[in-house]
Amino acid sequence: MGKVDVLLGLQWGDEGKGKIVDFLAPKYDVVARFQGGPNAGHTLEFDGVKHVLHQIPSGIFREGTKNIIGNGVVLDPVIFRREVDALNKFSLNLRKSLYISKKAALILPTHRLLDQAYEIAKGEGKIGSTLKGIGPTYQDKIGRQGLRVGDILASDFIDKFNHLTGIHLNILKEQPIEFNWDELRSVYLDAVEFLCGFQLVESEYLINEEIKRGASILAEGAQGSLLDIDFGSYPFVTSSNTVTAGACTGLGIAPRYVGEVYGIFKAYSTRVGSGPFPTELFDEQGELMRKQGNEFGSTTGRPRRCGWIDLPSLKYSIMINGVTQLFMMKADVLSIFSEIRVCTEYRLSDGSVTDKIPYGLVGEKIEPVYQELKGWNIPLSGKSMSEMPRELSQYIDFLEDRLEVPITLISLGPDRTQTIHRPVTVA
Ligand code: GDP
Ligand code: IMO
Ligand code: MG
Repeated sequence: MGKVDVLLGLQWGDEGKGKIVDFLAPKYDVVARFQGGPNAGHTLEFDGVKHVLHQIPSGIFREGTKNIIGNGVVLDPVIFRREVDALNKFSLNLRKSLYISKKAALILPTHRLLDQAYEIAKGEGKIGSTLKGIGPTYQDKIGRQGLRVGDILASDFIDKFNHLTGIHLNILKEQPIEFNWDELRSVYLDAVEFLCGFQLVESEYLINEEIKRGASILAEGAQGSLLDIDFGSYPFVTSSNTVTAGACTGLGIAPRYVGEVYGIFKAYSTRVGSGPFPTELFDEQGELMRKQGNEFGSTTGRPRRCGWIDLPSLKYSIMINGVTQLFMMKADVLSIFSEIRVCTEYRLSDGSVTDKIPYGLVGEKIEPVYQELKGWNIPLSGKSMSEMPRELSQYIDFLEDRLEVPITLISLGPDRTQTIHRPVTVA
């Protein structure tokens, strides 16, 4: 029997999942997205090309790899078409290598408008959504009135489309949003026709047949564990289960087929959108991190909030996901600092200290307790594991010791080649 390894972000997204999925893909027969949608922006860099994927899995550039958009995903046909067009120059045969679940939820143009309306209504308390219609689409899925990819093949699709968008348009009448419905509708229906030209399948059968024949499968998470609908800093979260369990429901695989769980984290922290961020830096150091790490959203271009690494949050994500290996990204960005801070615990408003995430994280005044480590302060590009500066090795050892999971891969730059395996040392 084959196994499904799961790769997911342990922070607030943008950890570098796309880069690593692309790096690991040659080892896998199948790469599958299991949740989220075009709110994701996964960046890949190789041969001097930089490419951002939103809904298409990051195994797409590797020949011979099957790529699946699973049932747990919310798919926007208009953005899908744009993504496919942007990939034209690479001469990939997407109609052969890409499979899309008929059970994936369809994002309608009105879902995007509703997303905007709900954010406006929240005022100061807005989530900072990417406004891709993610929340409203999952709402309709859970409310049992959504449309799915498989519906576009049926002769009554247009009736269903008119019915549901009609309900949405009624709600939107009351909202301060301007749009040209005829144009949105026509662009959307064209894109739906385009989508019909791809392999729309019962992907749960496909993936379980692959497991049966002993194939290796990589499930590619989107967003991060701290944005999970159940375990993230609710309500400042996304609308799907971004954690390992989401790969089971989002692909139709039984938990016993889950193999390795790769947890990706940056050597520091970032967050885009609203919500608590205990180690956020508001000073020049945060500004430096943003500049050095090029921390601007891959989907929206928004500046990402930056701060030091946060061990209580990472421990929580490792626990919920059952992480078996850790991958540390963007260590090169910290080369600018001569001192590096690690948040080991939180001091709560009543003075107590904890390494657990308090229920009232949202709204609670939390003060990070820091331990200072010496920085390495030299560029890391082109270095092998044995050439790592001592201070970086100490940083890695410190994190590994506190997180109790081996760090088996280090990323030192955005390119595929700037990735180093770190042999596991058995105590
Ligand atoms: P994802 O959403 O998890 O796939 O991550 P994003 O692509 O949104 O953001 C990660 C950003 O960091 C991208 O611009 C990557 O090209 C870049 N990146 C990935 N790994 C590294 C690294 O090790 N060092 C540096 N400097 N940049 C990296
Ligand atoms: P990848 O896969 C970082 C954030 C948004 C917002 C919240 C809800 O590239 O890591 P939504 O659009 O889902 O309603 O937004 O979640 N968010 C992300 N932040 N990376 C992502 O994806 C994100 N997808 C959503 O900024 O705070
Ligand atoms: Mg991203």
